[in-house]
Amino acid sequence: MLREQKPMAEPVEPSSAVWPAVEISPRAAKKIASGVLWVYSNEVESRDEQPATAYLCRFTRNGRAVAAGYFNKHSLIAGRVLTFGDAPDLDRLVTRRLREAFARRATGVAGDAARLVFSEADLLPGLVLDFYPPDAVLQSGTAGMDLLLPVLEGCVPHLIEEVFGHKLQGLVVRCDAGVRRLEVVDMFSRVCFGDRERLALATVAEHGVRVVADLVGGQKTGFFLDQRDNRLFLGSRVRQMPGARVLDLFCYSGGWGLRALREGAGHVTFVDQNREALHLLEKGLAANAVPPEAAEPVRADVFEFLARDQALYDVVVADPPAFVKSRKNLAQAIKAYQKLNRLAWRRVRPGGLLITCSCSHHLAEGDFLNLLAAAVAREEGLAQIVHRGGQAADHPVLLSMPETAYLKCVGLLKMKPE
Ligand SMILES: C[S@@+](CC[C@H](N)C(=O)[O-])C[C@H]1O[C@@H](n2cnc3c(N)ncnc32)[C@H](O)[C@@H]1O
Repeated sequence: MLREQKPMAEPVEPSSAVWPAVEISPRAAKKIASGVLWVYSNEVESRDEQPATAYLCRFTRNGRAVAAGYFNKHSLIAGRVLTFGDAPDLDRLVTRRLREAFARRATGVAGDAARLVFSEADLLPGLVLDFYPPDAVLQSGTAGMDLLLPVLEGCVPHLIEEVFGHKLQGLVVRCDAGVRRLEVVDMFSRVCFGDRERLALATVAEHGVRVVADLVGGQKTGFFLDQRDNRLFLGSRVRQMPGARVLDLFCYSGGWGLRALREGAGHVTFVDQNREALHLLEKGLAANAVPPEAAEPVRADVFEFLARDQALYDVVVADPPAFVKSRKNLAQAIKAYQKLNRLAWRRVRPGGLLITCSCSHHLAEGDFLNLLAAAVAREEGLAQIVHRGGQAADHPVLLSMPETAYLKCVGLLKMKPE
């Protein structure tokens, strides 16, 4: 249940001397040495018992500090590493991590929205920081990262001002991602400062397109920043097809379709089952001065829509939610992806394009391509791969943690059979 919460009153104890020990297995210590930031519950040999669900800790092997981070006794991923070696001065560590993450993005941020911190890949496990000038959203996905929120709320505004020259007008803390259920921790969303109404209908800029986002209660942190580069690919193709007819499936606030309209598409059909999504889309269409005859928002289940729709499109985009929630349902999810892509492929005219995505990190790119091949093989036409994309560069991947790579986007050209 989503609810409002007051800021946490207790600051985090910054002194390393008191961080309790979690003794880990030799295998876990080896993994940490190779850059894996997770300790599974079955890799813990003993620990100093603590009353709190989550607490800052030192990971030790034979009593010697291997790393420091946080521990959650309810989570399967029980420990996450914030730094290697002994426990740090927390304020200094957080500030340094943020500065380094911001510096890696400093050249790419020019008034557009950007992800400034991407969790494990920026060595701040469980934390996402998205910048929607003039506002920002801090999202904590773990009980352990919640402990750092007071420090983060204190330093993020002035660091953003220092590095990017923007004085934040709003800051939202989001602790409402579904993944938190695995942590057995409260769900809440809180406006730290700024006007709530404005934050719930913020305008997000992406290469000249304006998307309206609810930063307080919308999906993710309000917008799907990870598709930025893939949307540019769509734009480049649409520019070559003036007046194109586009179908944007699972459209949410319309990031793909609005990009297509900006690049000269003649008409976009937007489909999503979520009422709030279509509300944001309507606002986005107005913000981009899209004439009513150029856009048709449809509130429907995509599978039902595709079962009845008879139209052919120049471009179909399918950007569904993650069908693979865990390895256990991989086989079932592959079937759902195949069904979706078969139905979507039928709606692409010969010579047209299907842009299809998966944001399930359990599904490797090779397996996604295999299932697409199997789907197309059962339908008409041949598919040429014209695009293979992933998450935008401000969602970096940590090589030692393949889990940080999750997004696949494939562009398939429907080759004319004759
Ligand atoms: C990954 S998000 C899409 C992001 C969007 N394409 C964008 O670029 O902002 C998935 C969306 O699919 C919608 N959705 C999930 N299942 C659906 C279904 N069966 N039919 C229609 N919409 C669905 C959700 O409401 C959500 O807005």
